[in-house]
Amino acid sequence: MTTFDDSSPLDVSPPAPEGSLVPTLGGHYYCAPDVFVGEQQTIFETMWMCAARTAELARPGAFRKVQVGRESVLVVRGRDGELRAFLNICRHRGAMLCTEDSGEEPRGLRCPYHAWTYRLDGKLFAAPNLGALTDETGGGIDRRRYGLIEVALREWLGYAWVCLADEPPSFEVDVIGSVTARLGDTEAIDRYRIDELALGKRVTYDVAANWKLIVENFMECYHCATIHPELTEVLPEFAGGFAAQYYVGHGAEFAEGAQGFTVDGSPGLTPIPGITPEQDRRYYAITVRPTVFINLVPDHVIIHRMYPMAADRTVVECDWLYMPDVVEHKRDVARSVELFHRVNQQDFEACERTQPAMASRAYRRGGVLVPSEHHIAEFHRWTLDRLAGTDRA
Ligand code: FES
Ligand SMILES: [Fe+2]
Repeated sequence: MTTFDDSSPLDVSPPAPEGSLVPTLGGHYYCAPDVFVGEQQTIFETMWMCAARTAELARPGAFRKVQVGRESVLVVRGRDGELRAFLNICRHRGAMLCTEDSGEEPRGLRCPYHAWTYRLDGKLFAAPNLGALTDETGGGIDRRRYGLIEVALREWLGYAWVCLADEPPSFEVDVIGSVTARLGDTEAIDRYRIDELALGKRVTYDVAANWKLIVENFMECYHCATIHPELTEVLPEFAGGFAAQYYVGHGAEFAEGAQGFTVDGSPGLTPIPGITPEQDRRYYAITVRPTVFINLVPDHVIIHRMYPMAADRTVVECDWLYMPDVVEHKRDVARSVELFHRVNQQDFEACERTQPAMASRAYRRGGVLVPSEHHIAEFHRWTLDRLAGTDRA
C-alpha cells in the first residue's frame, strides 16, 4: 500500500472542485501496486479483453499467448476449426504449457515438465502411465476433468476477445455497445469490414506508464496542437484542442489539401468499399474499455490493444489493417503507417513523462481537467466504481 507523508510543507490542497477545472484522480491511482491489483481483479479479469487477431490463428494448433490480468491465456485453433481460449497452466503440477508468445502445435499441447498432453479442445489426451491412473472410484480418470481450464471467447472485428469471468458480462452491451454508442448506429463499424482486412503493419510499444494515462491521453485532444504536428496537418480541427471526436457520430474531417491519412498528406491506399460518403475523408476514434482503441479512416483501420503489465508499465500492440490487395501486392504502406506511428510515439512519450510525477507529493491529490477534458472525469468515476468492489479505492 502506498502511503503519503501528510506532514509535507508543500501546499497540496485538492484542486478546486467547482468552476471550469475538475479534479482528477490522485497520483497513487497511477502508481500504487495495490490499486493495480484491484484493477486486475475488477477490470481486466472480469471484462472482455481483445486478445488476438484470428487470421493469425488460421491453422489447427496455431496459438497465441496473451496476458489477461494476472493470468496467462492461450488462444488456440482446434482441429474442428473453432477458436478456444484456455488458461496456460498444466493441470498436473501447474507448469506453464507454452512459453512462446505464438506458435503452432498441431498435435496438441504437451507440457514440457512431465509430458501431460492436451488435445486442441483442451481435453487431457496423454500422460506417462495414464492407463494406470485411477480416480476416487478406482476407475480410469476422466480426461475432461483434468483438461485445460477454458475461458470465454468471442470473435468480433477479426479479433478473439476473451473474458476470465465465470459469468461474462454481455459482449453486445459492453463491447459492441460502446462502439455503437460512439458512432451513433450499429452499422457504421460494419461498413469497414474489419474482419476482412489484412494486417499491413504491427508495432509493439513497451510504455513506461500506467494504462489509465494512455486511455486518458487517447480520449482528449487538448494536447494535439502541442505534440502532434503531423496529425493536426491532416485533421485541422484537432488543433483547436476540443474533444470534437467524442461527439456521437462525429468524425474529424481531413484538411482540404490532404489527399489521404498519411504523414505527408499524400494519397492513401485502396479505399474500403461500402463506407458512406459521410464516413469518407473522416477520422473516427473509439475507446472500448478497458484497453482497446479503434481508429477508422477511409482506407485503413488502426487497432490498439493494451496489455497492462504493472502499475507503471503497459505493452501496447498496434495493428494497421488494409484491404487485402494492399498487403497481397506488397504496396508501400510506409507513409500511411508513419502518421499514426508518430502519433503513438508522441503520445507515449507524453505518458512516460507524466508517470514519474504520479508518485510525487506535488500530485498526491491529483491535477485538474480543463473543460475540453471533462469527459475524462466519467472515466475516473467508472474506474472508482469498478474498484469499489475491493478495498483499493
Ligand atoms: S506439470 Fe505439466 S506434466 Fe507435470
Ligand atoms: Fe495524442
